[in-house]
Amino acid sequence: MILRHGKWTGIFLLVAGIYLLLPVICLEGGLMMFSKKIKAQEIFALPDFAAKGNMTVEQALKNRHSTRSFTSEALGLEEAGQLLWAAQGINRPQKKYRTAPSAGALFPLEVFLVAGKIDGLEPGVYRYLPPEHGLSRIKTGDLRRDLYNQALRQSSVVNAPAVIVISGIYERTTGRYGDRGRQYVHMEVGHAGQNIHLQAEALNLGTVVIGAFNDSGVQQVLGLEQNEIPMYLMPVGR
Ligand SMILES: Cc1cc2nc3c(=O)[nH]c(=O)nc-3n(C[C@H](O)[C@H](O)[C@H](O)COP(=O)(O)O)c2cc1C
Repeated sequence: MILRHGKWTGIFLLVAGIYLLLPVICLEGGLMMFSKKIKAQEIFALPDFAAKGNMTVEQALKNRHSTRSFTSEALGLEEAGQLLWAAQGINRPQKKYRTAPSAGALFPLEVFLVAGKIDGLEPGVYRYLPPEHGLSRIKTGDLRRDLYNQALRQSSVVNAPAVIVISGIYERTTGRYGDRGRQYVHMEVGHAGQNIHLQAEALNLGTVVIGAFNDSGVQQVLGLEQNEIPMYLMPVGR
């Protein structure tokens, strides 16, 4: 009887202990997650994007060409934001759909800004956050020369005030479409790259799509995960 009584007391104490400790465990875990979130999400808001410009789409198409040399003039933060929005910005907030089409709306692309000379933005590497139309910093410092070294020393990469990098995460699309999903990711990079090209024209800026670079070297410079495959570097400037 005493033994049985002791067993029930033990169970009662165990349950009461868990009950009392649970809020502490949750609070601790919650605080840890919260502080991690704050750290990982130091978001820089970009100026509002414009939905109207001074050039028609026909004029932008007529003018589009590759530009590989740039003046030393800085890029405005508004211009940088507009180019990023053109690449992968949200244009239908209700659905969170973007300026470029995406197979199955799976959005495998990530867009980065390697900032060298941008007014109002410290040099560094930033990830574009479409829902916030903002940036989160990945690295500080001017990394254009490191990027240039990984891109066959193509001078456009080091001379431009900023370089936009588009990467693709195959698994986001192959998860639904199998191997064919890889092709879809490549097609989507083309859409985003052309959007940047046309937007650059409309802003009287120049750019070029660069596909010749060392993948793992670029990943290292930008601090990308292994499954984030860099696909286009796009130096932009005047
Ligand atoms: C997939 C792809 C990869 C490219 N890679 C490079 C590159 O590494 N460096 C470069 O200067 N231009 C690169 N280009 C740009 C082409 O050289 C350019 O589009 C071509 O010469 C036609 O000139 P246009 O863009 O002025 O019409 C690339 C273009 C494409 C589509």
